[in-house]
Amino acid sequence: MSSPPPVIHRGLAGVVVDTTEISTVIQETNSLTYRGYPVQELAARRSFEEVAHLLWYGDLPDPDQLRDFRTRERALRPLDRTTSELFARLPATCHPMDVLRTAVSFFGAEDPTEDDGSPAANRAKSMTLLAKLPTVVAADQRRRRGLGPIPPDPGLGYAENFFHMCFGAVPDPDVVRCFEISLTLYAEHSFNASTFTARVVTSTLSDLYSAVTAAIGALKGPLHGGANEAVMHMLDEIGDPERAGDWLDEALSARRRIMGFGHRVYKHGDSRVPIMQAALDRLVARAADPETTRKATLHAALRHAMLQRKGIHPNLDYPAGLAYRLMGFDTPTFTPIFVMSRITGWTAHITEQLADNALIRPLASYAGPEQRAVPVAAVPV
Ligand code: ACO
Repeated sequence: MSSPPPVIHRGLAGVVVDTTEISTVIQETNSLTYRGYPVQELAARRSFEEVAHLLWYGDLPDPDQLRDFRTRERALRPLDRTTSELFARLPATCHPMDVLRTAVSFFGAEDPTEDDGSPAANRAKSMTLLAKLPTVVAADQRRRRGLGPIPPDPGLGYAENFFHMCFGAVPDPDVVRCFEISLTLYAEHSFNASTFTARVVTSTLSDLYSAVTAAIGALKGPLHGGANEAVMHMLDEIGDPERAGDWLDEALSARRRIMGFGHRVYKHGDSRVPIMQAALDRLVARAADPETTRKATLHAALRHAMLQRKGIHPNLDYPAGLAYRLMGFDTPTFTPIFVMSRITGWTAHITEQLADNALIRPLASYAGPEQRAVPVAAVPV
């Protein structure tokens, strides 16, 4: 008697592959918690540095721990000359996600502790990446604008320093706050595609830089982190708020995916959207120029039309994309900003995976030709 065909879970949808203590989506209340704390409360009450500490060490820092965390992060921000020269040699057409992927790989090659996968060494590497990635992202945006890099300022917080390195100025605290909220919301989301990628690589006992390099590759795709960039391209393509409904009808009949909508886990709305949308609304009210108003009207019209036509809600990338535009960032910089934040979640998961490792190696149901004999080659080998 032949065994029954295996149940196939395409895309691993609905499959629980391990436990985690880092974050969870509570379906009943549609809320996301980091180490037990609701992300909305963290975004409203805590800095991104405190959230990073929470994800890595399991609890919010006390004042001494926060001071120590900030001192270490600020000291590691500068890039050495070799690294800066390497980036300057990359083609100007190189996507900033490719620059970041190359950067992490390069940091790994340069790190003398590369082979030591101890928790202490991995925490040090995580801090190095947290500190240096914004320096790379900011310098790369300036390079694309034909401008030289601005060195980090150790007197500024994580979010403020990023604006300083991008624009040579720190905007008013309201804007910095909106940015920091986005970093907190993007920091962690359980076994999403890029985090799972990092865990798969880690499960082979490979090193942290390899796991993060692979995670960046996974995040780049438009079905995942690349969607915040794709949202902006889509809004630019539609242009006129009056066109939102017709554009959407055409796109849906062409079976296009509408970027920034839908989610594998949330089917009744992404828990992170209301707080990011409120931050976006504050940015729109603050700008109050005709172009911003037009973009915001289009943004709302498309959201409304999508809900009406398909019943599909926006995900975090939908408000974040437009918010980053209003903060002055170039569209290709949006997904790298996601990396600057998610590096905290990825590295927390790498540590967790290593603490109780099991090789991740699923099975596949074979659907190819039956076993057959190899024909004799026309030309003898
Ligand atoms: N546009 C159009 N249709 C959609 C969308 C969308 N954005 N999302 C889901 N659907 C439709 C599908 O076509 C499908 O319809 P069908 O049953 O008639 O074929 C149905 O909804 C279910 O879709 P699935 O692909 O099964 O849902 P899944 O859970 O696999 O997809 C995903 C989740 C990949 C995020 C999807 O919603 C999508 O492609 N969204 C656009 C990309 C995006 O915004 N990604 C960001 C994710 S969030 C983040 O990374 C922060």
